[in-house]
Amino acid sequence: MSFKYPPRIHLANLPTPIEKLEKLSQNWDGPEIYVKRDDLTGMALSGNKIRKLEFVIADARERGADLLITCGGIQSNHARATAVAATKLGMKSYLVLRGQEGTDIDGNLLLDFLVGAKVKYITPEDYATRVDDIMEELAIQLKKEGHHPYIIPEGASNELGAIGYMAAINEISRQLDDIELVIDYIVCAVGSGGTHSGLLLGQKLYQKKFKIIGFNVCDDEVYFVEKINRISHQAIRRFGIDVELKEQDVQIIDGYVGEGYALNRQDEIDFMKQTAHGQGLILDPVYTGKAFFGLKDQISKGRFKKGEKILFIHTGGIFGLFPKRKLFCNP
Ligand SMILES: Cc1ncc(COP(=O)(O)O)c(C=O)c1O
Repeated sequence: MSFKYPPRIHLANLPTPIEKLEKLSQNWDGPEIYVKRDDLTGMALSGNKIRKLEFVIADARERGADLLITCGGIQSNHARATAVAATKLGMKSYLVLRGQEGTDIDGNLLLDFLVGAKVKYITPEDYATRVDDIMEELAIQLKKEGHHPYIIPEGASNELGAIGYMAAINEISRQLDDIELVIDYIVCAVGSGGTHSGLLLGQKLYQKKFKIIGFNVCDDEVYFVEKINRISHQAIRRFGIDVELKEQDVQIIDGYVGEGYALNRQDEIDFMKQTAHGQGLILDPVYTGKAFFGLKDQISKGRFKKGEKILFIHTGGIFGLFPKRKLFCNP
């Protein structure tokens, strides 16, 4: 299980804590629920993307980049994290966001502008069909202007970003050993697949018995089984990771996308309010809120049982709450 990690820069406050959700575990009367607080990787540099960016930006710097280009939704946590990290490291950032100029400058978008990111807005159609080409065109134009751009794909979910979560398994394993806790599952939200891919690679590399389960918040199970397999195999090949991965190792529980990506139903909002009121756990509406909602529902349907232990990765996203304040305001 020895593995030589690629170069990494320090951005996240690690290790993030593991906490037991005592009240919630009692109330749900099912498995014991623990949470890995990756929402606490930093302040504006918070959430799961930071672990990926530690490896991705190290690569960018090694290649002499001085400007990071990336993409996402208008409230992308990943785009915000990239912009904050770039500025902190003395680089520039250019974000290609799915949305319209004139949208309220709130939540993540506010932070993007605060740290000096440049933003290019594109339509949902262009985003769906040619966002990678648009980032390439932008890179060509910026090169002509004398910059050294580096393109980070959506969610930093490539074979390099995934290494961040492979390393997180090492961190989690040490923490669990310290408190003599044996868990059965690690559960996470799946948005672009890199977190799940890294967790799975880590589970294999460090030979852990627990299973990795993802709840997708967009697209569907077929899409993510293919994508997570693809990212994982690219990582295995590029870094020579000594693990065997089969397609069926990728376990996605589908059915909780609800109204669609970044859209919320009232029952999801009510659930997030209850979790905040009852346990002091603040989830985000786009990722962790939906995944945790799905987990609760699957527990009530018997998929996870009393006596089992689940570690939910809180992947962050708190700034996404603020543009949705109206949904949460009615008492
Ligand atoms: C807060 C949050 N949680 C979870 C995810 C999903 O992670 P991944 O994109 O690695 O699947 C994302 C990003 O997509 C995110 O911003």
